[in-house]
Amino acid sequence: MDIVRDETGLRQLLSTARARGRRIALVPTMGALHEGHLRLVDAVLDPDTEVVASVFVNPAQFGPSEDLARYPRCIESDADKLEARGCNILFAPSENDVYLSGDATRVRVGSLSEVLCGPLRPGHFEGVATVVTKLFGLTQPDVAIFGRKDYQQLAIIKRLVRDLFLRVEVRSLATVREPGGLAMSSRNAYLNPEERARAGGIARALSLLSMRIVEGAHTASRLRTEFRDILQRSVDHIEYAELADPDSLALVADSAVPAPRTLLATACRVGKTRLIDNVVTTEDRIEC
Ligand code: PAF
Repeated sequence: MDIVRDETGLRQLLSTARARGRRIALVPTMGALHEGHLRLVDAVLDPDTEVVASVFVNPAQFGPSEDLARYPRCIESDADKLEARGCNILFAPSENDVYLSGDATRVRVGSLSEVLCGPLRPGHFEGVATVVTKLFGLTQPDVAIFGRKDYQQLAIIKRLVRDLFLRVEVRSLATVREPGGLAMSSRNAYLNPEERARAGGIARALSLLSMRIVEGAHTASRLRTEFRDILQRSVDHIEYAELADPDSLALVADSAVPAPRTLLATACRVGKTRLIDNVVTTEDRIEC
C-alpha cells in the first residue's frame, strides 16, 4: 500500500492507476478505523479497482465545544489495518493540504441539513459536504462508499453529487454492529465498560420501535413517546428520537401513522459520549 500526504503524490499514483485501466474507489474516513470502515474497503475491492482510503480529521465538521482535540488519531495502526485488508493507497493529508491558504468555498445542502443532527450541530453538515466535495475533487473517484450509520450524512452526500453533477457513484453499506447491537463507531472508544453495556440499549430501542411501526395502526406521536421511554432506560440524555421519511428526511407528523418504510433515528449521550444510530424499518434488522 502506498501512503501519500499531498495532492501531488496522490495525483501521480492515480494517473498511473488510470493509465493501467483501473477504476478508482474512495473510502473517506476520519481514521481510528474499526471493522465498519474495513468492511467499506472490502465492499469496493475488485481486481480492476484502485482502492483509496482517506484519513483526515476534518476540523470544519466539529463545533467549538465538540471533540476535535480528543478525536482518536492512530495513523500507524490505521495504515496496518488498511494494508491487511488490501487497500492500495492511503491518503492522509494535513489540514493545509485540504484547506489551502485563502480557502473560501463552502458546500451547503439545504433542507436535508436542517433536521435531526442539523440544528444540534450547526455547521457540521456544511463541513462534511465541503470536505467530501474536496476529497472527490482530489481523487475523482468512479465510486465512493459510506456507512449507513451516518444516514443523514449519506443522504446529504447523495444530494450534493446529484445537484453538482459530480460523476461519482455513491454506494453505502449497512451499519456494522458489535455483538449485542451497538453500532460500531470510532467514538465508542470513549465509553467505559459500564457505558458500553448501556449503549447497547440504543440498538434494542430501534429494534423494538421498528417492530411497532411494522405492526401499523400507531400514531407517530405515540411511537415517539415509546421510543424515548425505551431509550431513557439506558442512556443519559436523548438529543432526538425521531421518525422520518427515509428519502426526504421530513419528520413524520405526530398525528400520522408512519409508512411501513420509515427512518428511525436517534442521537443520545451515554456519559459524555454522543452516539447516533438509525434503522430503516423495512431494510435493516438488528440482532440484539
Ligand atoms: O463519516 C466520516 O468519517 C466523515 O464525516 C467523512 C465522511 C470522512 C468526512 O469527514
